[in-house]
Amino acid sequence: MIKLNGIERMSDKQRLEYLLISLEGQLSSENNPLANISNASALIYAIIDRLNWAGFYFMRENELVLGPFQGLPACNRIKLNAGVCGTAAATRKTQVVPNVHDFPGHIACDSASNSELVVPIVKDNTVYGVLDLDSPELERFTELEAKYFERFVKKLNQYIDWDEL
Ligand code: SME
Repeated sequence: MIKLNGIERMSDKQRLEYLLISLEGQLSSENNPLANISNASALIYAIIDRLNWAGFYFMRENELVLGPFQGLPACNRIKLNAGVCGTAAATRKTQVVPNVHDFPGHIACDSASNSELVVPIVKDNTVYGVLDLDSPELERFTELEAKYFERFVKKLNQYIDWDEL
């Protein structure tokens, strides 16, 4: 079990480091992909502050379908190229959106969201889905955070066979 004592005193960078260590602990001790990605979303939500949503969407027949997450119930399906998630999946590029209300086609699942970070999950040249983080704060996500969450997805890719989901 992860320890959250003292987490409120950690800097943003310390939290991101702690998140990667905790993810490694999860992935190296369990091999069920659903258990792993469920806890991956819970680790993000427990360790990273100022979020209102953290979770996964997976490619199914050319659209994104909701996977394990933390936060309020969200849109079940997102078309490729639609919104921030569909853009990340279509372009295979991480999207750091300082103000979602300025993003053309943004899909408002939770009206509390003001900024968003979406990292595509790409393995062996195939897009398997996206990791999506939402914040109620404007400009919540930095480039440093984007790099850490790309490392987070890379670590998932090392351990998870997405075709088994
Ligand atoms: N805002 C996202 C939709 C997913 S929710 O934020 C959970 C988008 O524009 O793709």
